Amino acid sequence: MRLDRYLAHYARMSRKEARAAVRQGRAALDGERVFREDCRVSEGMTVFLDGSALRAEEYVYYMLNKPPGVVSATSDRTERTVLDLVDTAGRDLFPVGRLDKDTTGLLILTDNGALAHRLLSPRYHVEKVYEFNYEGELVPDAVRLAAQGMDIGEKHLTEPALLELPASRPHFARLSISEGKYHQVKRMAAKLGGHVTELRRVAFGGIALDETLQPGEYRRLTEEEIGRLQQHTDNMD
Ligand code: URA
Repeated sequence: MRLDRYLAHYARMSRKEARAAVRQGRAALDGERVFREDCRVSEGMTVFLDGSALRAEEYVYYMLNKPPGVVSATSDRTERTVLDLVDTAGRDLFPVGRLDKDTTGLLILTDNGALAHRLLSPRYHVEKVYEFNYEGELVPDAVRLAAQGMDIGEKHLTEPALLELPASRPHFARLSISEGKYHQVKRMAAKLGGHVTELRRVAFGGIALDETLQPGEYRRLTEEEIGRLQQHTDNMD
């Protein structure tokens, strides 16, 4: 990887700041000061910034506020994907699970395949919270039905889900589920009498969507957020 790219990635600088830092002589490679931002950092080299060694992170984690109209895939022949929105800095990132093309909100991207696999496994019951607007009228006992588990045409009933219907917001609902069946929220809403017109994920695994992120924007997860994700699966080992 080029040095300016490496610094941008591991020292969390912009590429412009990274280039300036190199030109100012603040970077060193294996103990030798370097002034060219395009020199290559090879496997096993230690990069220093202002005298401190940068530790290469094993994995990276991002939170994306997914906009509508992009697909949750790593590549697609015709559609724009969530990866087209992110500077992957050479990492093999992929989305942790899928949101429908028209669904917006919190999507985690990482290159930690083992953790992603576990977070998506039904075994760990990772909670996802969705908010949606709907047309039509939900049946009067919708909250109880969601809590009991519903037949949406799968082999098993859905797991108990928390449906919240704030009185102040007609045709708006919040649904917390701990599994991820295909089109689950839309299918549950349909079964309850509602047609979802807008769907947004606001939390995943105890991490809330950062409301300062505009649709299409992303940021690194904080150490604390990464720890929270890891905790879900640690407790079950
Ligand atoms: N449920 C859905 O129906 N769609 C999504 O994108 C996510 C959950």
